[in-house]
Amino acid sequence: MPSDVSVRPTTGDDQAHVLRTVREAFSGGFGDGREEVEIVEAVWSLARPVAAGDLVAVSGDEIVGHGLASPGRLDGSTVPGLAPLAVRPDRQGEGIGTALMTDLLRRLDRQGCPLVVVLGDPRFHGRFGFQPSGPLGIHYPPIGADSPQFQVLQLGDHRETSTGNYVFSWEAPVK
Ligand SMILES: CC(C)(COP(=O)(O)OP(=O)(O)OC[C@H]1O[C@@H](n2cnc3c(N)ncnc32)[C@H](O)[C@@H]1OP(=O)(O)O)[C@@H](O)C(=O)NCCC(=O)NCCS
Repeated sequence: MPSDVSVRPTTGDDQAHVLRTVREAFSGGFGDGREEVEIVEAVWSLARPVAAGDLVAVSGDEIVGHGLASPGRLDGSTVPGLAPLAVRPDRQGEGIGTALMTDLLRRLDRQGCPLVVVLGDPRFHGRFGFQPSGPLGIHYPPIGADSPQFQVLQLGDHRETSTGNYVFSWEAPVK
């Protein structure tokens, strides 16, 4: 990670800057970032980020990246889902996304989370040990039963044996 960047929990004052960062990161050939912004707003409005699973990367007084984990459901268990992970376009490729992901996973591991899921490019997430979820019997139907984009990571010595269809927090809020 660049020496001018640090990672810390998101505060209420960061929120407008985070939404802009998310929109910019996901704007381009494949979308306008609206869907990802709505996910972040939905998780915040439910007041349901996983504790310490809402992090910003900061350079000076600027937000340059953001990562969010929220509690989804799998087979009756609460399992964190990481989404979205965003780095401001002009700061991508400097290690900031790696730093955010590493910090998020470390915090989730410390909390004793046995399993984390993510929806994204396996070439990026595979670097952290994420694997396609299908062989573990975990599926995310909206993108097809066995899409390699939906991935899981087992943390530490913890073991999670739940299988089935995953539901992100914003799709069916935990009561
Ligand atoms: C994906 C993203 C979060 C990565 O953050 P980043 O700070 O650019 O990534 P890093 O600098 O830590 O890159 C780490 C490595 O992953 C690679 N990488 C980055 N984004 C990648 C992607 N989308 N697919 C495959 N590899 C990727 C980098 O090339 C780098 O590889 P290297 O070390 O061999 O050079 C960022 O590029 C981004 O916000 N992209 C747009 C939004 C998005 O796609 N988010 C992820 C889905 S939730």
